[in-house]
Amino acid sequence: MAKNVKGEDKDMGKVAIYPGSFDPITYGHIDIIERGLEIFDKVIVAIAENEEKRPLFSVEERIRMVKNCVKDTPNAIVDSFKGLLVNYVGKTNAKVILRGLRATSDFEYEFHMASMNRSLNTQLDTLFMMTSKDYFFVSSRTIKEVARLGGAVEGLVPDLVVRRLKEKFKLPVPKKRGIGWDD
Ligand code: PNS
Repeated sequence: MAKNVKGEDKDMGKVAIYPGSFDPITYGHIDIIERGLEIFDKVIVAIAENEEKRPLFSVEERIRMVKNCVKDTPNAIVDSFKGLLVNYVGKTNAKVILRGLRATSDFEYEFHMASMNRSLNTQLDTLFMMTSKDYFFVSSRTIKEVARLGGAVEGLVPDLVVRRLKEKFKLPVPKKRGIGWDD
């Protein structure tokens, strides 16, 4: 396999890094991971430790949730990183950053971030995938707000995440057991 083709490497094939806070992971994220794997041989889900964003879930909790959600997707690798994304990407075989794009409101932030990352490493490209129509309104921020106020987020995040949100916000956790309810 040619070494100079974007994101390709002799051993691992085409690798993309899918970075984010994943605080928490949603079905919108999972949709991007699965569709990313239609294009790339491996997708590394890179969870930013970013304590300055005051995440609801610790990095360990986020890693555990993401690992559980992709446990049946062998080519999705879960990792975490501190500091600059480009420095982390530089330690991997990836040349492509994968990001989901929901609406025009995402565009400016994403455009700045992709441009800054490209300026920091001219070998890096960012590939945007439009979020599926079922999830274009889903964000970790709104999921946390709705869950905190006792609203239903079932169907928008995996069952395990529903449970972890309820535990975090000290809301009653139903006895129900479903697929993925436990980790
Ligand atoms: O899910 P998010 O919070 O939109 O993800 C943002 C993330 C983690 C991808 C971004 O904040 C990031 O890359 N942080 C690492 C620090 C960095 O490299 N910043 C410069 C990019 S402009």
